[in-house]
Amino acid sequence: MTSTVLVTGGAGFIGSHTCVELLSHGHEVVVVDDFSNSSPGAVEAVHKLAGRPVQLHRADLRDRAALAEVFRAHRFDAVIHFAAKKAVGESTRIPLTYFDINIGGTTALLHAMNEHGVRRLVFSSSCSVYGETSTVPLDEDSPAAPTNPYARSKYLCEQLLADACAYDPGLSVIALRYFNPIGAHPSGEIGEDPAGVPNNVLPYMAQVAVGRLPELPVYGDDYPTPDGTGVRDYIHVVDVADGHRVALDHLDDETGLRVFNLGTGTGASVLTLLAEFSRAAGRPIPYRVEPRRAGDVATLIADPRRVERAWGWRTTRDLAAMCEDAWRFQRLHPAGYAG
Ligand code: UD1
Repeated sequence: MTSTVLVTGGAGFIGSHTCVELLSHGHEVVVVDDFSNSSPGAVEAVHKLAGRPVQLHRADLRDRAALAEVFRAHRFDAVIHFAAKKAVGESTRIPLTYFDINIGGTTALLHAMNEHGVRRLVFSSSCSVYGETSTVPLDEDSPAAPTNPYARSKYLCEQLLADACAYDPGLSVIALRYFNPIGAHPSGEIGEDPAGVPNNVLPYMAQVAVGRLPELPVYGDDYPTPDGTGVRDYIHVVDVADGHRVALDHLDDETGLRVFNLGTGTGASVLTLLAEFSRAAGRPIPYRVEPRRAGDVATLIADPRRVERAWGWRTTRDLAAMCEDAWRFQRLHPAGYAG
């Protein structure tokens, strides 16, 4: 079934890939983005790739008047809500800004949906809600224990979504807890283009490979993991995007809030990822081992079975594809969308 979908944060890394998936499956897509950590270039690239236009509104979700305009201009069948701040370190320095944008944006969106009778939502959540844990792999029933304001803001949003559902029995919400999305569209036309020095490991190593940064800091080689470096469940961004498209089709399965992990169920260490990315880029990538980064944990791996049982859905792209696709985007856009 095709529909008209509002994608908040649709110019961002995961948002732009999701727009391509939706458009290529016949959905109409309307993007709201304030471009605070994204670029209009991403929306142009989405248009080019999908061969169909995206309708774009530049707005901050907390601007109630602007959001009301958007809801008046279209009849939405569903909303996918990505727009949020997501840097863990930054969230410890400016927690109130994180709560304001991530929680305030979500409540403003829920108000607008309520006023316009839109009752189907897919919410962008994060594996960081699990926090420090020794459970591997992590299933959705693992207790939430967020350890920083970013993760707390995502968990609070899940809780307020549960409350919203409890008081509006017609509301249907799916929260997707992503593990570590990396990679890019295989065309190389869209990818991850963070503002400033990257916080995350893959864009950092990609910028080292292309000569924008001198070497990758590897944060800790004394973790209780096979090679001592942190292990994460990296998931291809096109799989994440596909998961959102499929989630839309399952919004009508039942009302209320449902939570699903999006991960592969397989972990890779920083050094494994580095080796795979060097192979994809065809060059060695200099690195230096540094002390552990505050707030990091040794291992985070998803138990992806709930979504597979519910929808018969699983990821299909491996670490080699993630690195090859991420490298293609970086090689074609050495300075990001601006270059
Ligand atoms: C974090 C958040 C996640 C969020 C994601 C994107 C947690 C537990 N996870 O993931 O929810 O969605 O950021 O913002 O809060 N590393 C290096 N060198 C670097 C950068 C990272 O060695 O320059 C290592 C880290 O120590 C870690 C791994 O690479 O072991 C992955 O780090 P990163 O890409 O930053 O993602 P997370 O911290 O796992």
